[in-house]
Amino acid sequence: MKIFLDSANLQEIKEAISWGAIDGVTTNPSLVAKERREFFPLLKEICATVNGPVSMETIARDAAGMVEEGRTFAKLHPNIVVKCPLTKEGLKATRQLTSEKIRVNVTLCFSATQALLAAKAGAYFISPFVGRLDDISSDGMGLIRDIKTIYGNYPFSTQILVASIRHPLHVVEAARLGADIATMPFSVLEALVKHPLTDAGLERFLKDWDQLPAEAKAWKVTTR
Ligand code: G3P
Repeated sequence: MKIFLDSANLQEIKEAISWGAIDGVTTNPSLVAKERREFFPLLKEICATVNGPVSMETIARDAAGMVEEGRTFAKLHPNIVVKCPLTKEGLKATRQLTSEKIRVNVTLCFSATQALLAAKAGAYFISPFVGRLDDISSDGMGLIRDIKTIYGNYPFSTQILVASIRHPLHVVEAARLGADIATMPFSVLEALVKHPLTDAGLERFLKDWDQLPAEAKAWKVTTR
């Protein structure tokens, strides 16, 4: 499973890349607005930093506007994937942009029927929002299971990008179900690394090492 960072923060993106942890980035208007920076230069910088797809969402509400914005984004950098919302207008825009060989991430997906339509419109990624479904007592990961089954029944090439991930168990479950990608905020990515037994084990190893007399600890490089 690929891991994407759901962030428009360059510091977080660079840090995650340095761990060898991420294969791409997803953004949305809320994440970009948080950065308080001029939008296009930020987007270009993110694309130049990440060796993989970078999703950026259209702002227009009508298909013609989404297509125009999508074309402009796509010209910025080859890494761009245009995000369109799962509305009728979003589907029209997806169909058009896809026909122009521009990759589209259909976002704000909350049902299996929506996911089916996005695949038919030619979406490159479908982004079901698992956390927001859990928030309203619906089964977010159940939706991923359904989409996986439905897409598996037919020759669709749309990749399942699990979005709105809130905690590490969402990531584990996404991988168990065979989702193509999981996108997550930096806090969740950090949580994937941590384990209390790793910290305690390391602490103990280094404490034991400290017991060795200084002479015994000296590094000696010998060739024979
Ligand atoms: O980028 C879309 C998605 O991951 C948003 O997540 O936490 O705002 O529901 P969240």
